[in-house]
Amino acid sequence: MENIKLPVHIAVIMDGNGRWAKEHNLPRNEGHRKGTKVLENIIKHANKIGIKYLTVYAFSTENWSRPQNEVNGLMKLFMKYLDRNIKKAMRDDIKFNAIGDIDSPNIPSDLKEKIKVLQEITKDKKGLCFNMAFNYGGRDEIIRACKKMMTEISLDKTGNSEITEALLSSCLDTANQPDPDLMIRTSGEMRTSNFMPWQLTYSEFYFASCLWPEFTVKEFDKAIEEYSTRKRRFGKSE
Ligand code: FPP
Repeated sequence: MENIKLPVHIAVIMDGNGRWAKEHNLPRNEGHRKGTKVLENIIKHANKIGIKYLTVYAFSTENWSRPQNEVNGLMKLFMKYLDRNIKKAMRDDIKFNAIGDIDSPNIPSDLKEKIKVLQEITKDKKGLCFNMAFNYGGRDEIIRACKKMMTEISLDKTGNSEITEALLSSCLDTANQPDPDLMIRTSGEMRTSNFMPWQLTYSEFYFASCLWPEFTVKEFDKAIEEYSTRKRRFGKSE
């Protein structure tokens, strides 16, 4: 990874757990379990090579409509993930941050509690900031940000009521974070599926054909290498 321009923020759509499970004659939740292991390797690696922000699409606002058994299996995986990381938080330098509608009554209260605990005990960590997009929908995030922005404007004693991109950005769940430089999606699907529509405006996209449970550190580095060759113009000419 020498002479490589590292992205500061990488966003990932971890797609293909269900198809992987089907290909291996396993229940869908086994695909999610394998997917969690892969994710944990990627988090460790991203931190090691100096990535500052990693945001993954773990559970969307639409995912509640999956079969109850699959939703329950996913909630168990999130609980276990949080438990493991609460235990090893002292040793790690990774900051955990959940983005999405975390206060929703749909989320089991013990899960909400653990999310808050892990956020609190890792809030001063200086390594990678790992954003878990949970009960997340991009349009929902923009609506919540607009509501917050309107409240802030109405409370602004200076009489400043100008709506700007910077003000809206500061009301998003990713406030104070740079937009993703690179977005990776696995499983060959080429769409963004309501993931960070505001923040991905100028991101570079990398589509990997493998399913998420097959994704490797090597493939992650390949995406970074490819990113490094891209010329970003942000709408300007060269
Ligand atoms: C998409 O695959 C994946 C998901 C909806 C869940 C992603 C979740 C994890 C990898 C688990 C854990 C995350 C954490 C933070 C512990 P799919 O089920 O839509 O696959 P398919 O398109 O092949 O059906």
